[in-house]
Amino acid sequence: LSERELVVVSNRQPYAHNYEDDDGEITVSRPAGGLTAGLDPVMQRTEGTWIAWGDGDADFEVADDGRVRVPPEDPAYTLSRVDLSESDLEGYYYGYSNQALWPLCHGMIYPVRCDGRDFERYRAVNRQFAKAVTEEASEGSLIWFQDYHFALAPRIVRREVPEALLTQFWHIPWPAADTFEVCPQADPLLDGLLANDLLVFHIPAYVENFLDCVEREIPEAAVDRDHRTIQRNGRTTTVRAFPLGIDAERTAELASESSVWADLAGRYGIDDVTVALGVDRLDYTKGIPERIDAIERFFEENPERRGEFTYVQNGSASRSEIASYEYLQQRVDAAIGRVNRRFGAGDWQPIVRIDEMLPEEELYALYRHSDLALVSALRDGMNLVAKEYVASQLDDDGILLLSKFAGAHEELGEGAVTINPFDTQDFAEAIERALALSAEEREARMATQRQRVGEYDLFAWMDDVLETALDCEGEPDLDR
Ligand code: G6P
Repeated sequence: LSERELVVVSNRQPYAHNYEDDDGEITVSRPAGGLTAGLDPVMQRTEGTWIAWGDGDADFEVADDGRVRVPPEDPAYTLSRVDLSESDLEGYYYGYSNQALWPLCHGMIYPVRCDGRDFERYRAVNRQFAKAVTEEASEGSLIWFQDYHFALAPRIVRREVPEALLTQFWHIPWPAADTFEVCPQADPLLDGLLANDLLVFHIPAYVENFLDCVEREIPEAAVDRDHRTIQRNGRTTTVRAFPLGIDAERTAELASESSVWADLAGRYGIDDVTVALGVDRLDYTKGIPERIDAIERFFEENPERRGEFTYVQNGSASRSEIASYEYLQQRVDAAIGRVNRRFGAGDWQPIVRIDEMLPEEELYALYRHSDLALVSALRDGMNLVAKEYVASQLDDDGILLLSKFAGAHEELGEGAVTINPFDTQDFAEAIERALALSAEEREARMATQRQRVGEYDLFAWMDDVLETALDCEGEPDLDR
């Protein structure tokens, strides 16, 4: 990589500068979500430039040209911010990215809205980011696009810097061909993505779905199933699956900081109970109402657990301006209220919600001390919460209940208690099954999972993606 300058492009930025109060004091915050948490340590190692939307209200105050060195406490790379207008955001972010591509890729057709006007904004913002890229990059750069916000940008950049290496990591699922075909903009989206030299998904199933879509929508493309390459107009796109990992070592270090637990547990009244934990952005793909239904069923069927078992919901608000997210928030509020009214007694609440974003040490202490983690995604590209929970289990005594519809199930399914979040009865019984496991069984399961998360960590993933991208420079290495 030393020869090539790395330029990363994502919608969400890793650090935002905001005015704290009217006195004009500026504070720096880090957003929720797997993408930025995952890539920041990668960038700290490789240096280079990260281009992202400057969404903080003081972002353009701290530097005129939008460029700032981060992390603020120990600068290691340049963050270059793109300024987006209200109408850009409406059409590109709230519109096409999150009401067309997000539900479509998660296989949820009902909320999908592929409005042509939104798509034009999405195209315009992709052009704006592509321009920012070409200002930073040269033919010798390795340009690494992140996620579904930038399906069109690679094609635009390719025209400007034809010899640069272009790679994209798609952090969410890729849907089956008969789901993707509902999208009227299927052709330009695929065309944009095929301008990459390398396109990476989390797991092989998404790669297969993508190849199916290309075969169906672009008949002139030559899809080589064995080598997972696509040839079109004299160019090759290599398509691979490398599951995103976490910085397991750092997670374990944070989780070993045991001093914060007593205070946290006391604050939320969870020191004397068995704790089941859910940590999510409030998103309808995460299966939160389904999880609360299962908790309710669990208390119905196991009355002896009342008073001694608590489900802790640590949820952070997300994309709240979109109606489907607002509706989800209402559903979750109503469901938690219902369960707490039905079963709560004295000081004990069956469901405790933590709506604040916890400082890292507290979050990892919560992971470490929770007896169960409930990851019930209806569909999820990967789900890093599952991996964070595993990496925090320093005593190997927790159990992960994991949806078979999360990408993480490929790697962690063996040690997890597998659930289908659509099956309330079985989900409730799975909680009982998990609680009944012996200490030896829990330890054996967790040790296998911890080994996997530790071995194929964030840096192993990064090496795979970047080395494979560099291989694409010559002939792609077909054995990878
Ligand atoms: C998912 C997406 C990311 C996104 C994150 C948070 O993990 O793959 O691209 O940044 O959700 O969502 P937000 O819309 O707040 O950036």
